[in-house]
Amino acid sequence: MPNPSEPEVPMSTVTPVIARDTASEPLDVAALVRAASADDHRATESRGFIVELMRGRRSLDDYTRYLAQLAWVYEALEARGIRADDPAVFDPALARMPAIESDLAALGAADWRDSHPALPATAEYAAHLRDIADDDVRYLAHHYTRYLGDLSGGQAIAALVARHYAATPEQLGFYDFDLGDEGPVHYKRRYREAMNALALEPRQVDALIEEVRASFRYNGAIFEALEA
Ligand code: HEM
Repeated sequence: MPNPSEPEVPMSTVTPVIARDTASEPLDVAALVRAASADDHRATESRGFIVELMRGRRSLDDYTRYLAQLAWVYEALEARGIRADDPAVFDPALARMPAIESDLAALGAADWRDSHPALPATAEYAAHLRDIADDDVRYLAHHYTRYLGDLSGGQAIAALVARHYAATPEQLGFYDFDLGDEGPVHYKRRYREAMNALALEPRQVDALIEEVRASFRYNGAIFEALEA
């Protein structure tokens, strides 16, 4: 797990693309992050719990246990709020907490705080999210990993949970983003462009990648805990 006491890498020190040495192309940060975390993504998505859930070998109750853990995670992730000088990538339309709470109520777990306390792995992830909330680059890493994941594999999870366990749309609002006319594929493309437009310095890109990889590990640890 990353050391929360590592120095912050604020995005406010970002150099705009136009101010860069014209001899050096701006980095395709989104592509670098994706490539650098591909193994971590594979390791996370192949955890027993999520594989079994997607194959129909678990239950709606197991899905509810999973979503309740994510409620603790998103509560911490979204506690930072949106700030006046935030870059476009921190889009308020992505916020998931209202949908998660509404889904949990529809799944019979309106009392999720009492009925599904945070597992140690979840509590560790949530505490880390609160620790790094003022470090824009590290926060971006978790923002990217969760929201782009929800807009990607998350869409498949929703379809399979509906198919295998007869979950209703009222129970799957978590995956139903209000993106206006835009579908998830187009939105993700714009998100990656917005990441690149930040024109992060190489040391910030390193920090971003390190933190994205950590985010996958935190998520994998929750899957592991749910399997127990
Ligand atoms: C069984 C579970 C999962 C499946 C089947 C799955 C599948 C996928 C697929 C097919 C994509 C590519 C979509 C595209 O190119 O637009 C993707 C992207 C992604 N997934 Fe997953 N995923 C799973 C779990 C997760 C988890 C648990 C996370 C993190 C918490 C995650 C994070 C991401 C991210 C950040 C991307 C975007 C990569 C990028 O294009 O930059 N995924 N996933």
